[in-house]
Amino acid sequence: MIRRAVLASIAALAIASLTLEAGSAPQRARLGMVITQSDIASDIGFTVIQAGGNAIDAAVASAFALAVTHPTAGNVGGGGFIVYRPASGEPVSYDFRETAPTRSSPEMWLTNGKYDAEKHHNSHLAVGVPGTVAGLHLAWKEQGSKPWKDLVQPAIVLARDGFELSHGLARSLAGVLPQMKKYPASVAQFSKNGVPYEAGEIFKQPDLARTLQRIADQGPAGFYEGEVAAAIEKEMKANGGLITMADLKAYQAKKRGVVKGTYRGYDVIGMPPPSSGGMAVMQILNVLEGFDLKANGYGSAKNIHLAAEAMRRAFADRARYIADPDFEKDIPLAMLISKDYAEKQRKSINQDKASKSSTSTFEFTSESPETTHLSIVDAKRNAVSLTYTLEAGYGSKIVVPGAGFLLNNEMGDFNAAPGLTDERGLIGTTPNLARPGKRMLSSMSPTIISKDGQLFMVTGTPGGRTIINTVLTTILNVIDYGMNAQEAVDAGRMHHQWLPDRISVERFGFSADTLKMLRAMGHEVTEAGGQGAAQVIVFNQKDNMLEGGVDRRPPDGGAAGK
Ligand code: GLY
Repeated sequence: MIRRAVLASIAALAIASLTLEAGSAPQRARLGMVITQSDIASDIGFTVIQAGGNAIDAAVASAFALAVTHPTAGNVGGGGFIVYRPASGEPVSYDFRETAPTRSSPEMWLTNGKYDAEKHHNSHLAVGVPGTVAGLHLAWKEQGSKPWKDLVQPAIVLARDGFELSHGLARSLAGVLPQMKKYPASVAQFSKNGVPYEAGEIFKQPDLARTLQRIADQGPAGFYEGEVAAAIEKEMKANGGLITMADLKAYQAKKRGVVKGTYRGYDVIGMPPPSSGGMAVMQILNVLEGFDLKANGYGSAKNIHLAAEAMRRAFADRARYIADPDFEKDIPLAMLISKDYAEKQRKSINQDKASKSSTSTFEFTSESPETTHLSIVDAKRNAVSLTYTLEAGYGSKIVVPGAGFLLNNEMGDFNAAPGLTDERGLIGTTPNLARPGKRMLSSMSPTIISKDGQLFMVTGTPGGRTIINTVLTTILNVIDYGMNAQEAVDAGRMHHQWLPDRISVERFGFSADTLKMLRAMGHEVTEAGGQGAAQVIVFNQKDNMLEGGVDRRPPDGGAAGK
């Protein structure tokens, strides 16, 4: 009821209707499509398209709405990436990754010379300078067509008047409450004085509504300056954090190019560094292009083996080379995504036997699976692939008192310490060490594919390091195996990330016989729960139809506004 009231309050925007088809048929729409992990946020984005807005307008409205309805990962206190492919003209990307505060250093997570993982991932020292508000505003300023205020307004209404809690979100909020206990503002925001909300209750966030109102009225200045910035600085000062008002004022989102490649005649664009996503997806596709995946068959042990071997090599390159390009000037990106390099990589793969990842090379930091992705296509077939995050679920778990939003713990994506060697024999590498103003390495892989100059597919997912391989899988499923968008999302997923040296597969994703064959090839294979939450749109040009694949793995799944 409340959800309807909220939507009705969006001036001049009609309510979108959701029609779910049975089985694994994709959802279809002609005008436009917005897929996010929240039905409310998807509807809000779609109503923007219905009102004549474009894909960037819809992305801005949906992303702000997700900050209210999907607090696990939707955010104003985090960061992320947009890959934008206009129907005509050059594709671009927007980098709104968080940055390290000015007083950061590579040794900042050491206590008496010893690495302190809690400090690195779970403290005020884990918080990077947020990028989301600046990034959404930059993309809107360059590409948007609707007034900024109108795009933020639906989120303000949702935060102020509340919305009905789903079972999934109520369960998630109850689950995270113990971790928030040391932060009174977080407990106040996400529970009833420490008592968890129940599904069906109306969840209001008045402080967040006021912050969003400032952003609506003043643009980025409403977040990076004035009362909100002062509240962040105060919280940091009181708790050993480093972010200052000067850091906030200095934050800049960046427009970048895109990683470009081809796969079996399709054009692929992805996110360049500081994300490793575009490089890794492109390199793995290049390697697999030389194998006849279709003939081997979907889900065959052979194809899983080949994919794992290509992943192993791309993840090793990721650790070795990829970091913030504004600090690391010598990233050999062109080489890493070249067909020649793929040829060399392919030749090093034994088609029947697993190779071994060397454990004496580079350190990996761990990345959390809690991120969220939006896939959007508008009436003109402009396309947005947007992935953003707080890093862990609910980020640092720290709500800024009086400002009502969660801070990220993205600094955990920097390497832990220079030359860190631990009992597993891992060694820290320099490119992804923390430095003042530097962006931390990411796996986020917003990706868009076209064919003969026409949009073909928009894909992306949350999932930490598994993001790269989930996005890859959706692409193979559509292009090599001929699946529709929903089938491509539903199909079982696998992951290899070089270290640890093992394939993880989704439970019930592949047959016992297949796993046995992989083990016989020398792979360690482990079974895991759901991998990611991909949101896929395929444009069926012949019928002028958008076909959406919505991921049902997470508790709240995804939903298409169409
Ligand atoms: N924090 C997840 C990522 O950036 O890949």
